[in-house]
Formats: sequence, structure tokens, C-alpha cells
Amino acid sequence: MKKNISIAFIVALLFCYAYADIDPRFASSQACKACHKTIVEEWETSLHAKSHFSKNELIDKTIEYMSLKTTLLKDQIVLNCSSCHNPRVAKDKMSLEEFYSQAYGQDSGETSAILNSQYAKDGVNCITCHNVDKIYHNNSPENRGKKIVDWTPSGTMVGPFDNVDSPYHKSEYRAYFQEQPNQLCNICHHSGESYYGHLICETSNEYDKSNSDKSCVDCHMRESTMRFTVDNKLAKEKRESRSHLFAGVRNSDIVAAAITINPSRVGQNLRLELVNETAHKIPTGYGDREMSIIVEFLDYDENLVRTDQYTLKATFGDEFGKETISQLAYQTLSDTRLDAGEKRKVDFAIPHSASKAKITLTYRLISEKWAKELQLKSEEFLKTYVVKERYIKF
Ligand code: HEC
Ligand code: HEC
Ligand code: HEC
Ligand code: HEC
Ligand code: HEC
Repeated sequence: MKKNISIAFIVALLFCYAYADIDPRFASSQACKACHKTIVEEWETSLHAKSHFSKNELIDKTIEYMSLKTTLLKDQIVLNCSSCHNPRVAKDKMSLEEFYSQAYGQDSGETSAILNSQYAKDGVNCITCHNVDKIYHNNSPENRGKKIVDWTPSGTMVGPFDNVDSPYHKSEYRAYFQEQPNQLCNICHHSGESYYGHLICETSNEYDKSNSDKSCVDCHMRESTMRFTVDNKLAKEKRESRSHLFAGVRNSDIVAAAITINPSRVGQNLRLELVNETAHKIPTGYGDREMSIIVEFLDYDENLVRTDQYTLKATFGDEFGKETISQLAYQTLSDTRLDAGEKRKVDFAIPHSASKAKITLTYRLISEKWAKELQLKSEEFLKTYVVKERYIKF
């Protein structure tokens, strides 16, 4: 009994330590569900809800792989990732003392308890974005995530509206929700760096060069519509509101709109004009994504004559130029991704017996080679997503 009490006491202390300034009434997205059910359910489908390693096999295996290839302990790596993946974790570094005790297997488990707490598992949650008081934006990739924000006092939700009335929390208006929403996304999506300080995951950096008049939320949170922002009796008026999908290939059909493929015949070639319709590179974000255009030449009887493939992807290398994952990049080895707004012509020689071609656009969250190397098991990461198909006759 005594032991149970002391464990409970330590756990309570750890919670206080981990989230010193957060009242438990606001710490989890589940606390918001009583009133903002629709929004919470949209968010739950997004990767923001799966940014903790316990909910995402690719992140978990990446951390394992990194700890194998470097001298870092797992907890140290996770603390590092937390500045964007779990920004409300109020711990940045392990002390040297802790490092040695963990390395020798005599660790108190303090950091691990913080990193595995329910709060941390909630990921990029409601009180990540809606407690951002100030943003100190700069273009340095090592200063991202929680390192460039001040948080509001717990219980004050910032959002797009002035003077809203909620019995549960205070509310304040901030311009970076509707007027300048990219600033909010830039906190984490601007750019990051690998373990060796190489620039990776540069979506907003790419966007800055695009002259696009659309903002991140225009495409990733759908068009705004008039709807109630609470789903119970407290709903008073409909407001301009967007979906909290943070749409990606796993929870929407957004990828189909990313790229236009215009096929034509030029002499003995099939020419594909690829147009990037987004405001950043394709693929963007996490460095090991892969998009392919597969061309299957068929004869009059629909028999396959030849298959060609053109792949849009970046590859990264270690210090010695050997291919590795983006998180361990020392250098970029190759990059065939389409730049924002880029139009690119790609030619394929038409085989003599071909009468038509089937063109398929596919997407992979991680290449087959690295899915294997990281020993991923989940279908989500093993599968090739078929985005769209079309035919051209010669
Ligand atoms: C990644 C940042 C981010 C996260 C995480 C996030 N929101 Fe939002 N939220 C926004 C943005 C941006 C807007 C403004 C959207 C717009 O233009 O209408 C917004 C708007 C809102 C609004 C006002 C109504 C509306 O749709 O504009 C409410 C209420 C809200 N969010 C609740 C939540 C809740 C509850 C959660 C957790 C499930 C959550 N948000 C998670 C970014 C975020
Ligand atoms: C008891 C009900 C209730 C709960 C629980 C609740 N809210 Fe709200 N919230 C409201 C109401 C009511 C509004 C005002 C809606 C309106 O006027 O359209 C609101 C508005 C908001 C806004 C818009 C603020 C602005 O100024 O733009 C945000 C953001 C928000 N809530 C976030 C949250 C988050 C995050 C949680 C969970 C930690 C949460 N709410 C829990 C009732 C609630
Ligand atoms: C606090 C850091 C943070 C902020 C702020 C943030 N994001 Fe994210 N976002 C992430 C992380 C981390 C992931 C990856 C999570 C994972 O892998 O499970 C992510 C994933 C995404 C994805 C999913 C990509 C996919 O593969 O499906 C989209 C889309 C996205 N964010 C859009 C936005 C937009 C739009 C905003 C601004 C309104 C925003 N994010 C603000 C950290 C953030
Ligand atoms: C014109 C629409 C558009 C705009 C504006 C836009 N995106 Fe995208 N974004 C897309 C499409 C379509 C995709 C899917 C193709 C891909 O993965 O490259 C995508 C992909 C992504 C992904 C990767 C998803 C994945 O599966 O890995 C992230 C992260 C992302 N966008 C974030 C952002 C951020 C942050 C901004 C603002 C700086 C932004 N986007 C602006 C359309 C847009
Ligand atoms: C600068 C902010 C930032 C830091 C620091 C960061 N990430 Fe991310 N990470 C992101 C964003 C933003 C995305 C979403 C991009 C996308 O989906 O294309 C992401 C996506 C990922 C993904 C893809 C997950 C999926 O489901 O597809 C993995 C894996 C990942 N990060 C691993 C890590 C690891 C491991 C660390 C720490 C060593 C880390 N990240 C540190 C911002 C960051």
C-alpha cells in the first residue's frame, strides 16, 4: 500500500514537472470534445494527433535507428524531436548525470515518464496551437517549434475570433489564425535540421519562394464555411470555420490535386508535362517521401509491352556519401522533386508495338528500400498509394 502511494506521489510530481504550467482541465484534446466534438474528431484523423512515437511506427523506428547509428540515447533523441512533435513537453535536455545513469541502466526513469505521459502522447494538440501567445519567427532551422513561442497562461485559448464567450475557458484573438495563418504553421513547418545540421523538412522555406497567393490552411484545412464551432447548446451563431483535417495522403484525397499530368505525343516520344499545383515542392515535408509516374505501354490486345517509371524524390547521404534517412543526413545526394510552380517535361520513347499507354501516379510515405531497412510492419508505410490513372492512345 505504502509503495502504491509513493508511486502515485512520484507520478503526480512528474506530471507537475512535465507540464508545470498546464491545468489538467486543458491538457488533453479529449477535454475539448464535450463542446468542440466535430473539430476534435477532424483533428483525430490528422497526423498532428499521431506525432508521438507511440502512435506512429515510422517515428518510433526512426528513433531506434538513430540511436543505433549515433551515440545518443533514445530519450535524448525524443526530447530533440519534441520541440515540434510534442511541443508542450516542458523539458529540453537531459543532464549529464541523467545521461550516465541511463547509459549504465540505473536511470530513475524521470525523462522517460515525461516523454511517455498521456499529455505527451496527445501530440500536436489543441493547446499547442491555441495556446501560442507570441511567435518569434526567424529562419534558423535549429530554432523551431517550442523554442520560438511563448505560451498563454493555461486556460486562455487564442483563436480567430474577437470577444467569444465560453464558460470553460478564456478566449483571445490572434491574427495568425485567419489573417496570417502561415505564421502559425511556420513554427514547425518552415524547416528543420538533421542530426548533422543538414537542412530538411523545408515546406515553408519552399513556399516562401513560390509567390503563391494561397496560404497553408487554404489547401490543408479546406475552404472556410459557416458553421457552429461548438456542437451543443452553447452554440449561438455560425461562424467562418475551417476543417481541422490538416489534410494529407492518409486522411484525404489532397494528393490528387498536387500534380497535373498533361500527356502528348511528340515524334516517337510520349511527353508528359508535369505541373506542380501546390505552393511547395512535391513531395514535400518529411524527406523520404516518394512520388512516381508509372507508364505502362500496351499493344492493341492490351498486352503489356514495357513499363517505365519516373520518380520524384530526394535522397540523402551520410558523411561518406552512403545513402541514409533524412534525419541522419549529412548531405543531399539527389533531388528530383518538383519545385513550387514548376512545369517539367519528361519524355519516354514509345515502343513500336504500343498503341496506348496507361499513366499512373503513385505515392509512398517512405521508399521500399527504407521501409525494409527500418523494418516497418504497418501497411500504412509499406503500401503504394495509387493517386490517379489515365490513358493516352497513340
Ligand atoms: C496545427 C494548429 C492547430 C491545432 C493543432 C488545432 N487548431 Fe484549432 N484552429 C487552427 C487554425 C489555423 C484555426 C483558424 C481556422 C480558420 O481559418 O477558420 C483554428 C480554429 C479553431 C476554432 C475556431 C473555429 C474555427 O474553425 O475557426 C476552434 C473552436 C478550434 N480551432 C478548436 C480546436 C480544438 C478543439 C483543437 C484540438 C482538437 C484544435 N483546434 C487544434 C489551428 C489549430
Ligand atoms: C463547455 C464547453 C467548452 C469546452 C469544454 C471547450 N470550449 Fe472552446 N469554446 C466554447 C464556446 C462556447 C466557444 C465560443 C464559440 C463561438 O462563439 O462560436 C469556444 C471557443 C473556442 C475557441 C475560439 C476562440 C477565439 O477567440 O477565436 C477556441 C480556439 C477554443 N474554444 C478552444 C478550445 C479548446 C482547445 C478546448 C479544450 C482544451 C476547449 N475549447 C474546450 C466552449 C467550450
Ligand atoms: C507545433 C508544431 C506544428 C505546428 C504549429 C503545425 N504543425 Fe503540421 N505537423 C507537425 C508535425 C510534427 C507533423 C507530423 C506528425 C506526424 O508525423 O505524425 C505535422 C503534420 C502535418 C500535416 C500532415 C502531413 C501528412 O503527411 O499527412 C499537415 C498537412 C500539416 N501538418 C499542416 C499544418 C498546417 C496547415 C499548420 C498551420 C495551421 C500546421 N501544420 C502547424 C507539426 C506542426
Ligand atoms: C495550393 C495548395 C497548397 C498550399 C497553398 C500548400 N499545400 Fe501543402 N500540400 C498540398 C498538396 C496537394 C499536397 C500533397 C502532395 C505532396 O505530398 O507533396 C501537400 C503536401 C503537404 C505536406 C506533406 C504531406 C505528406 O504526406 O507528407 C505538408 C507537410 C504540407 N503540404 C504542408 C504545407 C504547409 C506548411 C503549407 C504552407 C507553407 C502548405 N502545405 C501549402 C497543397 C498545398
Ligand atoms: C523542426 C520541427 C521538427 C523537428 C525538430 C522534428 N520533426 Fe519530424 N516532422 C516535422 C514535420 C513538420 C513533419 C510533417 C512533414 C510531412 O508529413 O511531410 C514531420 C514528420 C516526421 C516523420 C514522418 C511521419 C509519418 O507518419 O509520415 C517522421 C518519421 C519524423 N518527422 C521523425 C522525426 C524525428 C525522429 C525527429 C527527432 C530526431 C523529428 N522528426 C524532429 C517537424 C519536425
